[in-house]
Amino acid sequence: MSNIPTDSFEGKHNRRLILRTIAESDLDQVLALDQTALGGLWNRDGYRRELDNDTSTLLGLWIKPHGNGEDGSAGQPAEQLIGLGCTWFIVDEAHITAIAIDPKYQRQGLGQQLLLALLQASRRQGMKRATLEVNCNNFQAIALYEKFGFKQVGIRKKYYSNGDSASILWLNRLSWPQFIDTLQQWETTVGDRLKKYQWIPPSLAPLTVTLPCFSRDPDTASGAT
Ligand SMILES: CC(C)(COP(=O)(O)OP(=O)(O)OC[C@H]1O[C@@H](n2cnc3c(N)ncnc32)[C@H](O)[C@@H]1OP(=O)(O)O)[C@@H](O)C(=O)NCCC(=O)NCCS
Repeated sequence: MSNIPTDSFEGKHNRRLILRTIAESDLDQVLALDQTALGGLWNRDGYRRELDNDTSTLLGLWIKPHGNGEDGSAGQPAEQLIGLGCTWFIVDEAHITAIAIDPKYQRQGLGQQLLLALLQASRRQGMKRATLEVNCNNFQAIALYEKFGFKQVGIRKKYYSNGDSASILWLNRLSWPQFIDTLQQWETTVGDRLKKYQWIPPSLAPLTVTLPCFSRDPDTASGAT
């Protein structure tokens, strides 16, 4: 594929992705990615608050720079952050607060991988629904969320400091028993997409939590204010 960056990474073939929670020692890379992909969503204190907040999960997607020692002894970090996602688990709702992929690696399926990981983590935590706000003009992100079944339930007018409005999206099926199958199907689809770009999907924890059956209409949104 012509748009696969090959300059500083494990070479063109079979680049393994690593998915793990972000730690304090990762914050320099997190801030750099935040600037590049999110235009400065949070500062260092903002990310520290996420790390200290028990209801918050901050996930990073990483790759290993080519020719570098595992311990970073060659002068580069042992892993390079290329994506991040954040969600809050509040009672039984997952609030997705950020998702970003380094622009050099966008449109290869990595955003889907991160969103899938956040939804899997939400399901494991026993969340029944997922929600988020996204700028109404951010068609890329809205397309990503809609691909995973999110529906718009409202608009927050002039939500952002520049006057842009936010679309409120909900996904209500998280706790349905059959949602495990949906997640597994997405895992296969996302994995196939990543493989086309020579990415090796990261290991994901199995969905072990058994949740009660909910019989609500999956397309009927609720709860947003
Ligand atoms: C939104 C974002 C995370 C998507 O990441 P990505 O790795 O490019 O996404 P994927 O390659 O997994 O694409 C997933 C889907 O999103 C949609 N999408 C992503 N980029 C798109 C674009 N430029 N144009 C149209 N649709 C797009 C498509 O539906 C795409 O599926 P497809 O390629 O099969 O058509 C990425 O664009 C990003 O980091 N944007 C800046 C940060 C941001 O706006 N975050 C959201 C609010 S916090």
